[in-house]
Amino acid sequence: MNERQRRNPRTEAIWTQLYEALAALSTSTGRRELEIVDLGGGSGVFAVPLARIGHRVTVVDPSPNALATLARRAAEAGVGDQVTGVQGDAADLAGVAGPGGADVVVCHGVLEVVDDVSGAVTAIAAALRPGGVASVVVAQRYAAVLAKALAGHFADARLLLDDPDGRWGRSDPLPRRFDEDGVRSLLGAAGLRVDEVHGVRVLTDLVAGSVVDDPAEVAALAELEAAVVAHPAFRAVAAALHVLAGKPAGVDV
Ligand SMILES: C[S@@+](CC[C@H](N)C(=O)[O-])C[C@H]1O[C@@H](n2cnc3c(N)ncnc32)[C@H](O)[C@@H]1O
Repeated sequence: MNERQRRNPRTEAIWTQLYEALAALSTSTGRRELEIVDLGGGSGVFAVPLARIGHRVTVVDPSPNALATLARRAAEAGVGDQVTGVQGDAADLAGVAGPGGADVVVCHGVLEVVDDVSGAVTAIAAALRPGGVASVVVAQRYAAVLAKALAGHFADARLLLDDPDGRWGRSDPLPRRFDEDGVRSLLGAAGLRVDEVHGVRVLTDLVAGSVVDDPAEVAALAELEAAVVAHPAFRAVAAALHVLAGKPAGVDV
């Protein structure tokens, strides 16, 4: 079973977009092995497959349990020497790859929970070398509004709709939600150039697991999801946005 077959319909589109960005970077740098930092990479869902295709990956994550699982998973996959786990958060990024030392920073599903979202994005930009690429996945506010409404939680849906920070109008630390304009300005303010924005997890987060219970149905859903993700009309209701943003050469952030 190869890496592509192992993936699931929820993450398939993210992988396709990420692989294309990595291939372009390998071509432009002339290096097959890239230095990747995975901020909030957790147990290595992305880091281990990235190491398996020949890159060096450093996962920075505050959770010791996640890092222990990462080490086990990397060893089992035979890439223990290409994956390094570091306990920390965005503030520790500069000390990991060295300022401007990373070809790629992966940050998937993390900006929703960091305390200082602008600070985290600035640290991501600073960790990238000029010409490097950030791969950012964030939960999207409009999809969360739909999900809340479909579950009958109309008051929460309204709070999410009206709150531009996506924090449901509440002061307790609920996961942040983003919209496309917001994530574009956030990355732009840190000096990154937004190259691509894709809506991902369009159908996979709406379809109940119980209706997809054999491999043929999983394959059919994956195929339909890929077609829908390529359709810009679905972007606004996608559960998450996948943004690829480059650090322009000559920019020192
Ligand atoms: C939803 S998981 C995403 C894991 C992984 N990036 C993925 O896509 O599978 C969120 C991760 O963010 C980590 N995290 C929480 N607070 C963080 C922070 N302040 N800085 C970096 N990572 C953080 C958690 O420990 C967890 O591993």
